[in-house]
Amino acid sequence: MDNRIVLITGANSGIGKAAALQFAEAGLTVLMACRNKKSGQQALTEIQQQSGNTRVELFEVDMSSQRSIRECCKELKKRYDKLDILIHNAAYFNHGEGHRLSEDRIEFTFATNTVGPFYMTTLLKELLSRSPDARILHASSTIIKHFFDPKRTIQWDHVTGPYKGEKPYSVYQHYCDSKMALVTLTFLLAEQLKADNISVNALQINGARMSKETLRKFKPAWRVAAIIQNLYFPPPEKMADCYFTICTANEFKGLTGKLFNHQNKVIEPAPANPSKIEEIKQLTTSKFHPRYAAERKNQEEVLKRCKELIFGANMINNDERE
Ligand SMILES: NC(=O)c1ccc[n+]([C@@H]2O[C@H](COP(=O)([O-])OP(=O)(O)OC[C@H]3O[C@@H](n4cnc5c(N)ncnc54)[C@H](OP(=O)(O)O)[C@@H]3O)[C@@H](O)[C@H]2O)c1
Repeated sequence: MDNRIVLITGANSGIGKAAALQFAEAGLTVLMACRNKKSGQQALTEIQQQSGNTRVELFEVDMSSQRSIRECCKELKKRYDKLDILIHNAAYFNHGEGHRLSEDRIEFTFATNTVGPFYMTTLLKELLSRSPDARILHASSTIIKHFFDPKRTIQWDHVTGPYKGEKPYSVYQHYCDSKMALVTLTFLLAEQLKADNISVNALQINGARMSKETLRKFKPAWRVAAIIQNLYFPPPEKMADCYFTICTANEFKGLTGKLFNHQNKVIEPAPANPSKIEEIKQLTTSKFHPRYAAERKNQEEVLKRCKELIFGANMINNDERE
């Protein structure tokens, strides 16, 4: 038996579910934080049966809702007095739907993929700091390569309130912004949480076969594209292996503030003035990430915006709201 405790968001399907099974098979206590109680319960039963590990538990959370995150973390703190691994896997990619706001009036993708994970980390910091080797992992995506375009920035005007853009709302752009913000936060949080002995890293996911349930959420045109794409993607277990290795292997102990690729290799910031060959490598390999995430002013901007969206503009030094 392993006395480590891992919390995985969105553990009822895809990579999150495959990872929950892998951690359960390795004997850790697995906390599955899911939005859908029914499919969460189904996944939990399957995982317990396949792994033979009964220390697998379901917590309800909607990562787009700050109220739900607060309630989930309150429940977690009542039941556990430490947390060793926190994997922010859940994400929203609104499969052809139009612009939506969360109940906190934040663009839905950004609320779920960036603000939610940041808030949950803030609320669970104390539990994590009680682990001798706490590790947080953010699930990012190769979509952030769009930020190799030096003109590309996060579109803050579109993160709150009704959509005011001149061009039609693009899910692609908002998903990309949310995943870039998450990587940018990874680097700053890694520094800030070092004193608490908590490491923070991100994984750049380059593709994983999507489940039937996930494909069903797509609007028809997107579904066809995703089914074709699925033919070329590896099974979710492949990425789940990366989650497991980065969060448990000794060689990753103490390593923090890194973005890893699908081979668990560190991705370096792109050179300031790339040669033509380096520009090609940026797009065709996973050796470099856009400099945007490494720049201090962008890191501070993402942190400030997230805090404002949670605690309000006048309360950005307030770390925790119960
Ligand atoms: N698959 C890929 O090719 C790929 C590529 C790049 C990055 N990624 C990243 O990999 C991670 C896992 O994706 P996946 O491929 O395994 O997709 P998936 O099977 O669709 O899993 C996504 C999970 O997130 C959950 N989720 C969505 N919105 C939520 C919310 N508001 N609150 C709580 N949970 C929520 C979903 O729950 P429900 O079942 O309730 O919807 C589901 O469990 C994501 O971060 C994704 O962005 C995937």
